[in-house]
Amino acid sequence: MPTPLKRFPKRFLWGAATSAHQVEGGTYNQWTLWEKENAKSLAHSAEYKLAHLASWDKTKQEATNPENYISGQATDHYHRYEEDFDLMQQLNFNAFRFSIEWSRIEPTEGAWDPAEIEHYRQYIRALKARGMEPMVTLFHWSMPVWFAEKGGFEKARNIKYFVRYADKVLQELGRDLRYITTINEPDTMTYNGYISLEHPPQKHSLPRMIWTYRNLLESHRQIYKVAHQMSRRFKVGFTKSYAMVEAGDDRWQTKFMVRFDYFIRDDIEHTYLRGREDFIGVNYYFHDRRLGFQVLDHPDKRVNDLGWEMVPGAIEHVLKRLHKRYKKPIIVMENGVADMEDKHRQWWMARVLSAIHSAMDDGVRVEGYLHWSLLDNFEWAYGKWPRFGLFHVDYKTLKRTPRKSALWYGKLIKQLRGL
Ligand code: BGC
Repeated sequence: MPTPLKRFPKRFLWGAATSAHQVEGGTYNQWTLWEKENAKSLAHSAEYKLAHLASWDKTKQEATNPENYISGQATDHYHRYEEDFDLMQQLNFNAFRFSIEWSRIEPTEGAWDPAEIEHYRQYIRALKARGMEPMVTLFHWSMPVWFAEKGGFEKARNIKYFVRYADKVLQELGRDLRYITTINEPDTMTYNGYISLEHPPQKHSLPRMIWTYRNLLESHRQIYKVAHQMSRRFKVGFTKSYAMVEAGDDRWQTKFMVRFDYFIRDDIEHTYLRGREDFIGVNYYFHDRRLGFQVLDHPDKRVNDLGWEMVPGAIEHVLKRLHKRYKKPIIVMENGVADMEDKHRQWWMARVLSAIHSAMDDGVRVEGYLHWSLLDNFEWAYGKWPRFGLFHVDYKTLKRTPRKSALWYGKLIKQLRGL
């Protein structure tokens, strides 16, 4: 391990992250409908998208089966959360990030479901009873069907519905909460929905992408205000995907494009929020290499099962840059690899943690690390075959089995928390 991991503060948040639609099972939202409509075509296009990867032989069977693209019962975390929290306790976690499924709380417009609110109340209490800080996300890409039918976040007039739901959740559950993430990765959601067309609503349009993004940020601003009016205890942030953009040479075009990339990807939104964030939620998966106007792959790149280049140490640069520009506490809200054979996960975590440690040595305020993910889960348009979990999930029996890297992570946390 490059840096000895000695000096993590006692109160550092250690844990993992999930999102409701990806693990709970039995959801009914805009994604559930989209999956059903698209499962066959996703299975058909799998070979075209994935056959070039070394993992293809092992993933082919699942990836070409339409069933893979239906979230269905997922990991049934909705019913098995206590069992899952026990597993987390065995890994010595003191924090857990999860999302609340809006479509359960407000299945039809304006009608709250008290039983579902109670479910999440018990859920949060079960975490606290095990000594874990609940880190809630209000919106992790799945929305009620009625809200999607009204145009979702594409319409500024719909922001009020999301703010009303957020207000309700905080009124009902806020007593037991401190860390609130309003929105998960508005950048990825809008890019995938309006540019790459990998996610609903699959409408190709740059203006719509920009407008939807703006509406998501506007929602954050309003919820930030609502939450702070309700309680000073809340720490409200939002979470975005941050990549390191590396200059592949020292031409002016390359330097210009690196700056431009950061501006477009990261700085515009922080500027728009004008400080209305109590922490910066960092999801780190990617590293890009710029050569002039092109983004080029490294010829010897090491990739995960999804073909994503793995440069774990580059998170240090991301953290330092954010610290320098925005001076806010940072929480790593997601970070992980699709790695069915658990060949890379431990190496990846060790590098990432050592990079976080060295950023902290240089004064960056990082308050937590939440690994993506606790369990294997439903990886959106790729379905169930990509395996991001610390725990392997057998989708037939729903049995959870810790991967070797999970046991390593658990031991490390124990040592670093001085337990
Ligand atoms: C998302 C997760 C997703 C993960 C891996 C993040 O962008 O927030 O929902 O599963 O990346 O792709």
